[in-house]
Amino acid sequence: MRAVVRREYGDTSVLHVEDVAEPALEPGHVIIDVAAAGVNMAEWHLMAGRPSVARLALGIRRPKLPVLGQDVAGVVSDVGEGVTRFAVGDAVFGSAKGSWAERAAANADLLQPLPPATSFEQAAAVPMSGYTALQALRAVGDVEGRSVAITGAGGGVGSYAVQLAAARGAHVTAVCSAAKAEFVRDLGAHEVIDYTTTDPTDPGRATRHFDAVLDFAGGLPLTRWRRGITPGGRLVLGGAENGGPVLGPLARSLQAPFTRGLKATTLVATSNGDDIAAVALGGGTLRSTRTATYTFAQAAQAVDALCAAIHPGKIVLVP
Ligand SMILES: NC(=O)c1ccc[n+]([C@@H]2O[C@H](COP(=O)([O-])OP(=O)(O)OC[C@H]3O[C@@H](n4cnc5c(N)ncnc54)[C@H](OP(=O)(O)O)[C@@H]3O)[C@@H](O)[C@H]2O)c1
Repeated sequence: MRAVVRREYGDTSVLHVEDVAEPALEPGHVIIDVAAAGVNMAEWHLMAGRPSVARLALGIRRPKLPVLGQDVAGVVSDVGEGVTRFAVGDAVFGSAKGSWAERAAANADLLQPLPPATSFEQAAAVPMSGYTALQALRAVGDVEGRSVAITGAGGGVGSYAVQLAAARGAHVTAVCSAAKAEFVRDLGAHEVIDYTTTDPTDPGRATRHFDAVLDFAGGLPLTRWRRGITPGGRLVLGGAENGGPVLGPLARSLQAPFTRGLKATTLVATSNGDDIAAVALGGGTLRSTRTATYTFAQAAQAVDALCAAIHPGKIVLVP
């Protein structure tokens, strides 16, 4: 089968479409004919082997697992021992192992039926960004009537965090570039701050006191957020791409306990069936934010587009 692989770490020039072995079917798993696969910063990290501390798990010199991709939507083509929730022919979406391939194995517990009136491309754009946004919100507790700022609001995780926070009754301030202002307003943001011209923690701003900040950009020093958050409020360290090649986002997390007066939580989002079910589309509160589709052969362009933040929301790949 055809798959997008990388045999070594590097920039997007290491991505190639190759013929690889079919995935093995294990008990509790299914095989999916992939119709669409999500593109996340996770794939950039796995491709680049960055932060380099992650290579302890991924493979020191070269990646142990060449096929990339986790988010998936497609049709079940084989069912492993012990799987009762799905049958051959079922349309599903969720988390798989190596979804940037014509077929992928997935733990049945990490899949949901494709929601009604939803395309494979729309569904593949949800899982990782959706459950990450959900778990970030969970870290700050009840947000009804509270002021929540979300950085990276126009990107993958942020676009779901805006929707989920607004649906829970928060007053949502989306922090993003001006090009994505309309996009985030349409998702439910009440205010938009263009970080390229305005500091969201500026003491002169009327909205400076955020009860919670979900930070998926890492653009501001922690001490700056401290002045923008109400006493008792919390900063969720959701992601940052400027933490250096060795520690990456860990650098901010290590710094947080030494930033006096700041309550911070480092988010390490994990895939689980309940949260994928909770962000399944069709319930009325969440819609897919897929705005761009590339083919497997264009995977390098898709990852470059993600890193350059060209498209609002999510990018997906199709075979
Ligand atoms: N903690 C976890 O478990 C977990 C899970 C998933 C992802 N992540 C991390 O979360 C981060 C976001 O992921 P993603 O998939 O949403 O990426 P993404 O789709 O690339 O979105 C990032 C967004 O941030 C915006 N941005 C860049 N600099 C900014 C700044 N200073 N302030 C506000 N917005 C800024 C970009 O667009 P504009 O500049 O045009 O606004 C872009 O839309 C990444 O670092 C990723 O690795 C963490």
